[in-house]
Amino acid sequence: MTAKTILLTDHRSRRPAPVVPGVPIAPSGRLADTRGRPLHDLRISVTDRCNFRCVYCMPKEVFGKDYPYLPHDALLSFEEIVRLARLFVAHGVEKIRLTGGEPLLRKNIEALIAQLAELRTPAGQPLDLTLTTNASLLARKARALADAGLRRVTVSLDALDDTVFRRMNDVDFPVADVLRGIDAAAEAGLGPIKVNMVVKKGVNDDQIESMAEYFRHSGHTLRFIEYMDVGASNGWKMDEVLPSADVLRRIGARWPLETLQPHYAGEVAQRWRYRDGAGEIGVISSVTQAFCSSCTRARLSTEGQLYLCLFADQGYDLRALLRGGASDADLATAIAHIWHGRTDNYSERRSADTPRAGRIEMSYIGG
Ligand code: GTP
Ligand code: 5AD
Ligand code: SF4
Ligand code: SF4
Repeated sequence: MTAKTILLTDHRSRRPAPVVPGVPIAPSGRLADTRGRPLHDLRISVTDRCNFRCVYCMPKEVFGKDYPYLPHDALLSFEEIVRLARLFVAHGVEKIRLTGGEPLLRKNIEALIAQLAELRTPAGQPLDLTLTTNASLLARKARALADAGLRRVTVSLDALDDTVFRRMNDVDFPVADVLRGIDAAAEAGLGPIKVNMVVKKGVNDDQIESMAEYFRHSGHTLRFIEYMDVGASNGWKMDEVLPSADVLRRIGARWPLETLQPHYAGEVAQRWRYRDGAGEIGVISSVTQAFCSSCTRARLSTEGQLYLCLFADQGYDLRALLRGGASDADLATAIAHIWHGRTDNYSERRSADTPRAGRIEMSYIGG
């Protein structure tokens, strides 16, 4: 068997060159990793920049004025993204989430969405095409995003109180603008909207009940996320994590809750609903209850590195293959080979003293 190897160096990470095995692996719509986990979701980061400096994601001390963001020619072009996305879909991906940084900062993102919306699964179905945003530009852009073919959006919002929210986003951004963005998205048909709140104990956990109250009866699904040790810069400590069990206890004490079945196998959030019919909430407990055993997510970084885990320190340089003249068959083979070898399960192994240096940042790989 022959194998092609393409090497590139880059300051962002040390990574092995992707290997294209000599025996092609044609897409069959089904790929399984070493634990039998299928490849279902692709998260594509379209920019490593963001106009927020959330303390748990892009702390100002690290992401200051001199932070070396990627130069424009390092980013995958829309053509390159769509070419890869088509191959991932042929391999079984049914959901694509655009992320960042803040994806709405990428110029002309609607044009990318329009092209991704054309893709079909091997069974002829359109994709679940969605995007995670801080909503700062959403009121302005929701209509155009929906017109381009985006199906839904997920909005990050960590507090209802302006002082707490401004402290979390660290750029003095007001809550009201995010709420306007959510309303505009709902009006444009981008619902049901999910609202993600990262809970950092002692910083915004006093917002849990007010956030729940605001989103009851709204038709939107509020989800509480355990603060994670992703990246190398947020100074994470276990005692700043509020376990989802505590969140549920606090909300349930005020508005009784009951569990709901997952929408699909491997759903990240555990679903709950208010017994009084006021709607649904979710909890995402990657610290206290790892969900690696059903993790079906691949991540494509802004510059075209394929990562198999949020906590990875190495990616696979698909951009090198793309720009080195690889054929679609080569690319599809490389992707299949990489997924076949996947063993990742970081959240199952997390310990407080795992070294974090070298880990990729959430702003580079996307939520
Ligand atoms: P939906 O289908 O819209 O529910 O998407 P999702 O459940 O994949 O959720 P979303 O993309 O909104 O993810 C919400 C948050 O969950 C992310 O911002 C992360 O904090 C966390 N998360 C999502 N996927 C993973 C994962 O694979 N591993 C870990 N550890 N956390 C994850
Ligand atoms: N812990 C948990 N979630 C995080 N996100 C970013 N950093 C963290 C972290 N340290 C997620 C949040 C946010 C999305 C963009 O990324 O869900 O809404
Ligand atoms: Fe930006 Fe989202 Fe990270 Fe906040 S969590 S800094 S909005 S990418
Ligand atoms: Fe998937 Fe890695 Fe998250 Fe586990 S820690 S669920 S393998 S991304």
